[in-house]
Amino acid sequence: MQIGFRHDPIAQVSCSALVTFAFEASQASSGSVERLPGETQSFLQEIHAGGGLSGKAYECTLIHRPPGLAAQKLLVVGAGKKDKFSVGQRRRLAGTAVRYLRTRGVRDIAWVADGPESAAECIESVVEGALLADYDVDCYKTGRDGNHRMERVDLVLSEPAGGTANAAVERGRVLGEAQNFTRHLVNEPSNRMTPALLARSAQDMADRYGLDCRVLDADEIQTLKMGAFWSVAQGSEEPPKLIVVRYAPADAPETPVVGLVGKGITFDSGGISLKPGDNMHEMKTDMAGGGTMLGVMQAIAQLKPRLRVTAIIPATENMPSGKASKPGDVITSMSGKTIEILNTDAEGRMVLADALTYAKQLGCTVLIDAATLTGAVTIALGNITTGVFGSNKEWVERVLAAAAKAGEKMWALPVDDDYRDLYKSSIADFANTGGRYGAAIIGAMFVGEFAGDTPWVHLDIAGTRWSNEEKPYMAKGPTGHGVRTLVQMLLDFHCDSI
Ligand code: BES
Ligand code: MN
Ligand code: ZN
Repeated sequence: MQIGFRHDPIAQVSCSALVTFAFEASQASSGSVERLPGETQSFLQEIHAGGGLSGKAYECTLIHRPPGLAAQKLLVVGAGKKDKFSVGQRRRLAGTAVRYLRTRGVRDIAWVADGPESAAECIESVVEGALLADYDVDCYKTGRDGNHRMERVDLVLSEPAGGTANAAVERGRVLGEAQNFTRHLVNEPSNRMTPALLARSAQDMADRYGLDCRVLDADEIQTLKMGAFWSVAQGSEEPPKLIVVRYAPADAPETPVVGLVGKGITFDSGGISLKPGDNMHEMKTDMAGGGTMLGVMQAIAQLKPRLRVTAIIPATENMPSGKASKPGDVITSMSGKTIEILNTDAEGRMVLADALTYAKQLGCTVLIDAATLTGAVTIALGNITTGVFGSNKEWVERVLAAAAKAGEKMWALPVDDDYRDLYKSSIADFANTGGRYGAAIIGAMFVGEFAGDTPWVHLDIAGTRWSNEEKPYMAKGPTGHGVRTLVQMLLDFHCDSI
C-alpha cells in the first residue's frame, strides 16, 4: 500500500474516493466533514435532514459525483459520539473506510485529516488503521491473489507535509506491518507453521531488519537440560526449536535487558490429556505469544529505542504419541525444580518455565511473557481484554499504562501467595495444574515461579489473540493484540529512564 500526502484545496483533490467522518449529533456537521466546501456540507445536511447520515459508529454513506468536489466519490464514515472519540476510534474509522471501499472497486483514497493538520497521532492512526484493515486471512482461497487490496492512501493536509508528518506515516506503517506480521504467523495452519517454519520466519524477519537470530535445535535443548520444554516436545514428530532474537543497539546501556518470552506451541492437541474435537483447530493459534514477540521485534528494529531487548520463543507442538509425556510423570526443569505433570494440556507453562530460566541465563533483567495460557482467562475477560499478571507493581503499571496509551484493553488480575498451595504436588516441587477455580491465576503464578526475583509480567492473550467476529475495520481472525502495547512500552521506557 502506497501512502502519501496531498495539500491541494479539498475541492480540487482528484481521487477515486475522498473520505471524511461525521459524529453522531443533531446535525451531521461535526467531524472532518467540517473541512469540506460549503456546497458539499449543505448537500450532506440535506441527507441528514432526510433521515440519512446518522453519524452512528462505522455507518458508511457513499456519495457518487459529490457536489463541490473533484473526487469521484465521497465517503462519510459515522464516528459515533464525539465525547467518546479517541485515537483508537480514528484508527477504526480509517479501517472501516478501507474495507468498505475496496470491496466496491476503489483502489485509491484520500483521507481528509482532522484537527491540526500536522497532528502526528492523527496521521499515524490513519496509516496504521488502513494497513490493519487491508489484511485478509483467506490467502489459501485460490484465485484471490490479493487483487482486492487498497493500492493507495493519501492524507489531505492543508500545508505541505513536514518531517513530523513523514515520521508519523513511518510509525503507523511500522506498527501496522508488525501487527500484520504477527497476524500472519498466527493465521497459518500448523502444517505450514511448524516449529521449524516459525524459526525460519523469525530468521527471515531478523535478516531483513538487521536483528541477530539464533535457533537452538532438539539436541541443544536437551544439552541445556530443559526438561520442562522437552517434556512437551518429546511426543511430537516435528522437531522443537528454541528461537532467540536479539536487538542490542550499540548506544544502549548494558542494563536493563528486557526479555520477551512468547509461548510458541504451533499446535496444542492437549497431548495424552487430549482436548475434545470441537474447535481443536483453533489450537493452531497457540503460538500467538511467540508471534506477538516477533511482531514487537520487527517494530523495534525499525523504531530503534535505545534499549536492549531479547525475544525468546520455545516452539514445539503438543502431541500425543508413544513417546509423549503422561499424566503423573515427573520431570526436572532447567531451573532444577521438579514438576509433576498432572495434565499434559497445561503445556504452555512447561515451555515457559524453561524459557524464563534461559532468559535469565542470557542476562535478561526484566521478563515479560505473552502466552495463550488458559481458557480461564477468556471466561474472566472474554475476547476483548488481555489478563495482566505480575508481582512487580512497577512493571505491571508500565504495561497497563502503555496499553491505555496504545488503545489495547488490558486488565490486571491478582497474584497472591495464598494461591501457591493450589499447585502443590505431593511428590515434586510443583504440580502443573491446580483445578478449575482461579485457573488463569494458577497458570500465571506457576510461570512466575521460574522468573524468581527478576521483575516479571505475564500477559494471558488466550482470549484476545483471535476475533470470531468480522469487524467493519478488521477481518475475523488473528488480531495482533499485544504488539502495540509492548512496542509502546519499550519506546516509553527508553524515554523516561535513560
Ligand atoms: N492453549 C491452551 C489455552 C487456550 C484455550 C488458548 C483457549 C486459547 C483458547 C492451554 O495450553 C491449555 O490447554 N490450558 C488448559 C490448562 C488446564 C489443563 C490447566 C485450559 O485452560 O483448559
Ligand atoms: Mn494446552
Ligand atoms: Zn496451549
